[in-house]
Amino acid sequence: MMAAVVTAYGTTPRYLEFPEPQLAGEHEIVVEVLAAGLHPRVRMQAGGSHYTSTGTDLPLVPGIDGVGRDADGRLWYFMSLGGRYGSMAERAVIDKRRSVVLPAHTDPVTMAATLNCVIASSLALTERVTLRPGQNVLVLGATGGTGRMAVQVARRLGAGQVTAVGRDAARLTALPGATSTALTGDPDTIARVGAGTDIVLDFLWGEPAAATMAALIAGRTDPIRPLTWVNLGEMAGPRATLPAGALRSTQLQIIGSGQGSLTGATMAAAIPAVAAAIAEGTYAVEPDPFPLHDVERAWSLPPDSSRRIVLSPV
Ligand SMILES: NC(=O)c1ccc[n+]([C@@H]2O[C@H](COP(=O)([O-])OP(=O)(O)OC[C@H]3O[C@@H](n4cnc5c(N)ncnc54)[C@H](OP(=O)(O)O)[C@@H]3O)[C@@H](O)[C@H]2O)c1
Repeated sequence: MMAAVVTAYGTTPRYLEFPEPQLAGEHEIVVEVLAAGLHPRVRMQAGGSHYTSTGTDLPLVPGIDGVGRDADGRLWYFMSLGGRYGSMAERAVIDKRRSVVLPAHTDPVTMAATLNCVIASSLALTERVTLRPGQNVLVLGATGGTGRMAVQVARRLGAGQVTAVGRDAARLTALPGATSTALTGDPDTIARVGAGTDIVLDFLWGEPAAATMAALIAGRTDPIRPLTWVNLGEMAGPRATLPAGALRSTQLQIIGSGQGSLTGATMAAAIPAVAAAIAEGTYAVEPDPFPLHDVERAWSLPPDSSRRIVLSPV
């Protein structure tokens, strides 16, 4: 079959022949892939920089999820099985326990762009911390695909205030669902509008996380009010120098949400509800569709967090 193939970590995948994936378990089936999203996590997988990358042999097909059609014509959203066989290929073996049948009218490209972005905050706010109605959420990195969805997910789960923090003023202003906004470089505004924050969903880490944490702690009017910082990504860097005083002066907890801190079973169990909400039109990340054979061109485009590249074998 043809696939996007990574032959060396950190190089752009090329459209090449790759061996057909083989069925190995009773819950597995083969699907014709219709769409696979080029998420930041997929770039990390192809770059060998994701924390799950150790031990995977090359060459590999990138892609952590996708939408495919089985031999009976049913549409499936699936999470890839890992290892060398990702979703950016003509065919994929999927495990039905990590997949869900989609309504026939589902747009595969929008589903492939959106589901990963929605499920991140859904899981964080229900499985890693339990958002109680009326609690206040701050989203750091709110203008990205996953951040924009996080603002909406928090609102739908009953959050009171949802503060959107990012580096782009125009995109922040246009963000649906946010009750207040602040720029990453504006600690005074973060301290003021984020004073009552209960939960931070952090997609950036790096310097913006350290600066935002310091600003939130400085603006805290009630040090006994718990503040849970949930890291989900590292768009601004894999390391951050955090203020020690933040840990001693307030009830701050720092946790993470992702593969490992969430089990595969927990992630799989969340898929049906999220897929149904997307199929109903509740959430949508705008896709930027490309044929799979154009993978090199799509991969090399400058980052655009307002759209999600989706590759489709044609
Ligand atoms: N743990 C999970 O369950 C999970 C699930 C999905 C995604 N993620 C992670 O979440 C992160 C964001 O994903 P995404 O889908 O939202 O990506 P995206 O659509 O590409 O958006 C990237 C976001 O990061 C911002 N950004 C990038 N570099 C920055 C910097 N140096 N300083 C400040 N802001 C910066 C962008 O700002 P602009 O809009 O101004 O460009 C945008 O808001 C990634 O690390 C991804 O791996 C985690």
